[in-house]
Amino acid sequence: MAKLIEECSYHLQLAGQLKITLDGNHALNVYADAERIERVILSFLYNCVKYAVNSDQIRINIERMDEMAKVSVTDQGPGITEERQKWIFERDYKGSDEDKNAVAGFGIGLYTSREIIKRHNGKIRVSGNYDEGSTFWFALPLLDRD
Ligand SMILES: Nc1ncnc2c1ncn2[C@@H]1O[C@H](COP(=O)(O)OP(=O)(O)OP(=O)(O)O)[C@@H](O)[C@H]1O
Ligand SMILES: [Mg+2]
Repeated sequence: MAKLIEECSYHLQLAGQLKITLDGNHALNVYADAERIERVILSFLYNCVKYAVNSDQIRINIERMDEMAKVSVTDQGPGITEERQKWIFERDYKGSDEDKNAVAGFGIGLYTSREIIKRHNGKIRVSGNYDEGSTFWFALPLLDRD
């Protein structure tokens, strides 16, 4: 998991777009489609570039959660209201005026991510209080469970 995260955050850091720190358990292995999981991670990180513009640091953490490896991406951006947290993973969430004026995007990044994680029998969520930044996380079943 750590190797994959390092690979896809490397280019973003190089481009000077984000300052990323990676902490936690680097020894957790998952059985997954690397290319698709990379898309999920990049989707989270590109959203940080777009929506959490004032974040100095993006913190990525890997930890064990029951029989899964949990990856969380935390920014110090504007955060997402509890109401919006309920539907940003939906396909046609761009319903409010706020969204019509939003930074241009197709609004499918999180929807696609949810589909990918679902097909890996994983979990994907957003958390965090409005005004305190957001944490997006996903969890995938561990390869070596004991
Ligand atoms: N890190 C974040 N901080 C604040 N808001 C966010 C963050 N990530 C996502 N959002 C909100 O969730 C919405 C859905 O994100 P999603 O990635 O699905 O779509 P998008 O970024 O608008 O378009 P696309 O990813 O298809 O280019 C965003 O429009 C934004 O309002
Ligand atoms: Mg996006």
